[in-house]
This record gives sequence, C-alpha cells and structure tokens, in this order.
Amino acid sequence: MEKSPSDLTMIEAIHLVKKYPSQKDGVFALNDLSLSIPSGQMYGLLGPDGAGKTTTLRILATVLLANSGQAKIGGFDTKKQAEKARRLIGYMPQNFSLYSDLSVLENLRFFADANGVSKNKQKERIPRMLAFTRLEEFTSRRAGNLSGGMKKKLALACALMHEPKVLLLDEPSTGVDPVSRRELWLILSQIVQEGVTVLVSTPYMDEAERCSRVTVLYEGQELVSGTPRELQNKLPFEIVEIKAKPRKLIRSIVSQHPLISAWRPIGDRLRLSSQDPKNLMTSLEKELKKNDGEIKLIRQSNRTMEDVFIHLVETKRGNL
Ligand SMILES: Nc1ncnc2c1ncn2[C@@H]1O[C@H](COP(=O)(O)OP(=O)(O)O)[C@@H](O)[C@H]1O
Ligand SMILES: [Mg+2]
Repeated sequence: MEKSPSDLTMIEAIHLVKKYPSQKDGVFALNDLSLSIPSGQMYGLLGPDGAGKTTTLRILATVLLANSGQAKIGGFDTKKQAEKARRLIGYMPQNFSLYSDLSVLENLRFFADANGVSKNKQKERIPRMLAFTRLEEFTSRRAGNLSGGMKKKLALACALMHEPKVLLLDEPSTGVDPVSRRELWLILSQIVQEGVTVLVSTPYMDEAERCSRVTVLYEGQELVSGTPRELQNKLPFEIVEIKAKPRKLIRSIVSQHPLISAWRPIGDRLRLSSQDPKNLMTSLEKELKKNDGEIKLIRQSNRTMEDVFIHLVETKRGNL
C-alpha cells in the first residue's frame, strides 16, 4: 500500500555535495548537507549571501544536479524520478522572471499552461490565487509596472497555480518593503495551514522566528538546526542592551569590561553578551555615574536569531 503524504518526509537532502566547475580546489557550494523536512512544516533555510541556499533549493527543485548525495521530494528521487518529483513542486527562484510585458492575468495563464493546468481548472484556480495574494484589482496591470512586493506575490501565485504539495521559495522577501514582507509571511502561513510543506530561504535572521524549524547554512555546511526557540535557549550568554552618553565613554567601558564576552552596536544602542547580566547592569550603572556619563536605557533583552548566528560564526572562526 502507498504511504499517505502525511507519513512522508516531504523534503529530503542526503549528504549533498555541489562544486561548480569554476570553484577553486577545496571550495564547495555545498559540502555534505543533509535536511529532513516532514510534511506540513514551514522550514527556514537561513544564511548570508553565498552560504549555499540557492544551490540547495535548485537541487531540490530538480533544476540542478549535485555532484554526490541524494535529494528527494515526497519520496521521489529528484534525479531518477524528476518528473514525478516535479509534479509535487512549486518553485519560486530567487530571480523569478515574470513576463514584464504581460499583464498579471496573462502571466498567471501562461504559468498555468506551462504547468499543464487545464483551462477548466484555471477558471477556478486563477481567481482563487488572485484573491489569495490580493492582486484582484491589478489583473490588467503589466507585471513590469508592479511594485517589488506585488511582483513577489504574483510570482508566488504562479508557483502555486498547479497546487503543489511542496513549495520551494528562494528569498521571497528580499527587496520587499516591511509591510509587504509581513503580508507575504501571512500568506505563507496560510499555505502551510492548507497542508503544503514550505521550504523558504532568507538572509534575514529575524524571519527565522516565523518558521517552525530552521537550518542555518554557512559556507555550504549546516551550522545548526532546530526550532528558533531551541537555538536561542542554547546560547551560553544573556543579552543586555544599553543606550548611554557620551558614546565614546560607554564604548571604552564596554570594550574592557570583564563581564562582557562580546558586544556590537545596533542603531543607537549597544548589545552586550554576558553570562552575568544582573551584575553587569549594576556595574555599568556605577561606572557611568563615576565618569559623569548618562544612561538613557539599560535592560536585559531577548536573545534573537541574529545573536545565535553571530555567536556561531564567531565560534567557527575561532574568535571566541
Ligand atoms: N553558477 C555558479 N558558478 C560558480 N560558483 C557559483 C555559482 N553559483 C553559486 N556559486 C557559488 O556557490 C556558493 C553558494 O552560492 P549560492 O547557492 O548562490 O548561495 P546563496 O543562495 O546562499 O547566496 C557561493 O560561493 C557562490 O559564489
Ligand atoms: Mg541565493
């Protein structure tokens, strides 16, 4: 008997290695990457530019072959059973090319035809996708004249046209304004609620918090995987935020303080890592007072995925 989709690992990468021909000896785009994503998850692939996100998604989407290892979608091998895998996949590449001279509606029809969606099915599916992505009012606008956020939503609607079970999205929120970014993530969570398994890549660590699990990639390798909460809780320090004047004084105090293991500026504040936040705060208050400084704000703050990422990279580089 065939397994039902809910029993399956929907997205699987097993020891993937990818080296592009022009890459130098010893450099890999992917260096032994494994992922296992059960049905119905919103899974985040995080990492800075060049980490290997696009390479991973292209291999999973059957448009690129790995040098070794295996990728599976819904149990189908993306190399040997590419056709079967492809039917399950909706893929939105990083540089998704819509036809800028065609209208929103024409683009949707084009992608529906290209993916073998019957005209009859299109009659039901196109209005649904337009409503879903809130593009109904813009059906006759040329794709080239849409805002960045609307282009991404149209690209998403196109990728969803054939009702894929697995959605692979490569940086859907890059280059999109914050309001549209929020809207896009809302749409994605609706897609997950409908039972679609979503793998989404992003360079923004703050977006990790919208995923049920994440893998952080760096230089083609997994740095860490888990729920955002797990990763934050594993950090061996707490965070103290401080805003104080004069800036020169606070920087000089912070850079030599024995209770601070690392620090960085964020906007007009400093973000300090410390194993002893309570004593650190008391000590900073004392030091600033002694030197005629003024504290505008001091408090313990939540640990974020940005903190997780920076800590992991620094540890990897041997700076800590
Ligand atoms: N077509 C290519 N030819 C040579 N090197 C490439 C090619 N595509 C990507 N790379 C390299 O592979 C690594 C991973 O790239 P990529 O998967 O695009 O990362 P990301 O999507 O996380 O930015 C980078 O070092 C990048 O320069
Ligand atoms: Mg990329």
